[in-house]
Amino acid sequence: MEQFVVTGGNRLEGRVQISGSKNAALPILAATLLTDEECRIEGVPDLRDVRNLLTILENLGLQSTFEDGVVTTRVSSETNSTAPYEHVRKMRASICVLGPLVAKRGVAEVSLPGGCVIGVRPIELHVKGLSDLGVDIRVEDGFVKARCQELRGHSTYLGGTFGSSVLGTANVMSAAVLARGRTIIEHAACEPEIQDLAHMLNSMGAEIQGIGSHHLVIDGVKQLGGTVHRVIPDRIEAGTFMVAGAITGGDLMIEGLVMNHMLAVSDKLKESGVIIDEIPDNAVRVRAGGIFRAVDVTTLPYPGFPTDMQAQLMALLSTASGTSVVTEKIYPDRFMHVAEYNRLGARVRKEGPSAIVEGAPDMLSGAPVMASDLRASAGLVLMGLVAKGQTHINRIYHIDRGYECIDQKLRAIGGDVQRREANVDFEF
Ligand code: EPZ
Repeated sequence: MEQFVVTGGNRLEGRVQISGSKNAALPILAATLLTDEECRIEGVPDLRDVRNLLTILENLGLQSTFEDGVVTTRVSSETNSTAPYEHVRKMRASICVLGPLVAKRGVAEVSLPGGCVIGVRPIELHVKGLSDLGVDIRVEDGFVKARCQELRGHSTYLGGTFGSSVLGTANVMSAAVLARGRTIIEHAACEPEIQDLAHMLNSMGAEIQGIGSHHLVIDGVKQLGGTVHRVIPDRIEAGTFMVAGAITGGDLMIEGLVMNHMLAVSDKLKESGVIIDEIPDNAVRVRAGGIFRAVDVTTLPYPGFPTDMQAQLMALLSTASGTSVVTEKIYPDRFMHVAEYNRLGARVRKEGPSAIVEGAPDMLSGAPVMASDLRASAGLVLMGLVAKGQTHINRIYHIDRGYECIDQKLRAIGGDVQRREANVDFEF
């Protein structure tokens, strides 16, 4: 099993290019099941999650090539519409094949993704939305089994206890494009990744209005054609590098992002004293402006502060002066990183859905730690970059699920992050 050895203390300086968005690419690739024609998806990051999804899609009869960030797809067979547990368990986002499969083939069986370390992660909103479109859908034998003769456009409300659902919206929208008549999705997710999927579907001939709002109006069409589509930049990778530049007292030019997608993150970073200059043509320059100030933050659906940046911001706040309160309103249990941060000298305690961070500049020192999930791993790398001495981060397969060559990118701007084989493993 591989680990990262991060030696802290280097200032990060230079330029870094942001890759395509993982969370946009996954439902977009799944949506290519909706057409018999060829699709060319550009700007796809080479990540474990993307490779996993391509394997699942291949099993479902989709032929694809993946080279230099470009995936081409074409459906060659529609005989298998089952995504088994052995594939789905590796990646919860596999559920995004459900909507496209049932819309195009009238049948889908997708293994229940189950919970994960960041929380329970139910899928009842996906089920409700598809059921409103006339799908006979039930959860049986560990599978979501969906069947329908004809999808009928209908109004559906996708608000849940924790707000809208990103992949729930993706599934229902991807199905509604082929329904007879009009579908209205109220309380739709409006994340940039959902907007990107909607634009891609429209480029295939779908008729989706209200993109970027919580109210989507979808007029079903008989069939969709092929497309050429470029995936948006990864706002979470961009935010992670913004924190990396700041926490190391560095001076980073982060290129290829969409600044409009970054407003909640840049606002919080500025509030804590980070200097962020917007550069024309989709770049930002990030510098530390002295000792960071404590700030309170609450994660919320877009355009609020993203849960996928919570662990990374907490890393910065661990080095700030004063006490910050970090509250999770999306995944109240997404605090597995707290114990590991404390091993590195941070002073964080969890109180219900909040973490109280007593920041202290220059307090961090390297230690062996274990990554629990994708964003927690990114947070540990950030902590390691500033901790004194060496931080050994185990279970880095999590980080390879969602960050393209993060170690190489960090080394290119001065970070001392080495990947190596390690014999240690840990039990939960
Ligand atoms: C997406 O997951 C992302 N994954 C997650 O990113 C991200 O953390 C999350 O959205 C929130 O922004 C992908 O896009 C592949 P949700 P998703 O349905 O769609 C509750 C990462 O690190 N809920 O929007 O599965 C749910 O439990 C990953 O890249 C229900 O209650 O998340 C959560 O509290 C991790 N019922 C909230 O809604 C449902 O039926 C938001 O979940 C569905 C969700």
